[in-house]
Amino acid sequence: MKQSIIKKITAREILASGAYPTVETTVELRGGAIGRASVPYGASAGSNEASVLLDGNKKRYGGRGCQKVVRNVEKKIFPTLRNKKIKSQRMLDKILTSLDPTPRKTKLGGNAILSVSVAFARAAAAQQKKPLYKYIKQSMKRSVGKKVRLQKKKRLPVREYPVARPMMVVIEGGKHGENSTDFQEYIICPLKNIKYAESVRINIEVYHALKKVLKKRKYGTNVGTEGAFVPAGIKSNELPLKFIVEAIKAAGYKPGVDVGIALDPAASEFYVPGKKRPYFLSCEKKRLTAVQMMQYYGRLIKKYPIVSIEDGFDEDDWDHWPTWHKKFGKEILIMGDDLTVTQEKFLQKAIDLSAINSILIKPNQVGTLTETLDTMHLAKSRGMHTIVSHRGGGDTNDTLIMDLAYAAGSLFTKVGPSRGERVEKYNRMLEIALENKK
Ligand code: PGA
Ligand code: ZN
Repeated sequence: MKQSIIKKITAREILASGAYPTVETTVELRGGAIGRASVPYGASAGSNEASVLLDGNKKRYGGRGCQKVVRNVEKKIFPTLRNKKIKSQRMLDKILTSLDPTPRKTKLGGNAILSVSVAFARAAAAQQKKPLYKYIKQSMKRSVGKKVRLQKKKRLPVREYPVARPMMVVIEGGKHGENSTDFQEYIICPLKNIKYAESVRINIEVYHALKKVLKKRKYGTNVGTEGAFVPAGIKSNELPLKFIVEAIKAAGYKPGVDVGIALDPAASEFYVPGKKRPYFLSCEKKRLTAVQMMQYYGRLIKKYPIVSIEDGFDEDDWDHWPTWHKKFGKEILIMGDDLTVTQEKFLQKAIDLSAINSILIKPNQVGTLTETLDTMHLAKSRGMHTIVSHRGGGDTNDTLIMDLAYAAGSLFTKVGPSRGERVEKYNRMLEIALENKK
C-alpha cells in the first residue's frame, strides 16, 4: 500500500443506540483523505473482551461518559502517530497495541484503540480511492499455516455463497429484552443461494409475518435492543421456535429449505457457577446440568430447522464444549462468541480442544482491525466459518462489519431487523452487493 502520513486525529463523545455515550474518531491524512469510525458496546459482553473504557464519573451519564477515551485518542495516541509514515494497517495496529500491551487494552481502552484503527482504515481506503472492503481484503492477504478445506456441513452446503448471508435476529430475550426468554436471540437465516437483496427481502417478510403470529397470540410486539421482538411474559424458550416456523410458512417459505433458524442462548448469562445444575432457565423454572442442557438443545435441533447454536454453554465451561461439538458439529454450526471473543488466543484454545466449528466476530472484542483479521484468517485456515456481528448493548451507524464480512468471505452477518443503526448495516451491504452484482 501507498504510505499514509497521519496529519490529525480528533475524537468526540457521541451517543450509541443504547442511549449511552461511545466514541467517534476522525483521522486525517496528509493529502486530505479523511476516515471516521465509531465503536459499539455489548450488553452481554464476554469477560475476556477488550475493555470498554468509561469515565466512571457518576455525575455524567451515571459514570458511562467517554471523555477519558476522547482524551486518550487525542492526547496519548495522536502524539505518537503524528506525522508517522504508516505503510500498512498492520503497522498502524502494531503501534496501537504497543501503546497498550495489556491483555484487555485497559490502559487506553479497547474503544479508543479500535476507533483509531478503523478510522485510519477508512482514511487509507479513501486515499487509495478504494471502497473499505477492498482495502480490508488487501490487508487480510497474509498467509498463516496451511489452508484446510472446509468440511461439508450436513445442513449448510453454503460455502460458495458470494456475499455473507443476512442472519437476522427476530426475537430477543436475556439481557436484550426484559421478561422474555432466557435465550438471548432467535435468528433467521436464508439458506438459498440467491441475490443478497432477495435474501434480505425474505427475512424481512418473515419478520413481519412473525409480528402477526405474536399479535394473534396476544404477545407484545415492541422491540428490544437489537430491533427484534420481545414477547414479554413468555413461559418457554421453545415457543419462539414454533412461532418462527409458523411465520416462515405464513410468509410463503419452507422452513429448513428456504429459511433456517439460529440460536444465541448466550448461556453465560444464565449460568450459575458452583451449582450442581448450573444452567438456570428462569422463564421455565428449570435448573439443568450441562448434560441436560445438551439434551435440551438436542431435542430442539431434532424438532426445528436449527442450523446454528452460538454460546450454547458458559464461556468457562470448556469441559463440555468439545462433547457438544462432537455430538452436533456435523449437523449445525457450533459457534463461539463469549467463548472466543474474536481473539486468536481463545480461538486457538477452541481449535486445540475441538470445541467449535465456527466463530462469531466482533471487532470491538479484540480492539484492532488487524487482530480481527488475524482471528478470521486463523478460523478460515482451519476450515471454520466466520459470522460477523453487531452489538446488542449500543451500536452506531458505523457499517464496518458489513465491509469486513464481505472482504473476509464470512458465511453470515448477524444484525437485527429494525432500528436505524441496524438497517444502516443492511443498507451498506445492499450497496456492496449492488456494486459487485451479487
Ligand atoms: P451483546 O450480545 O449485547 O454483548 O453484543 C450479542 C451477542 O451475544 O451476540
Ligand atoms: Zn452471542
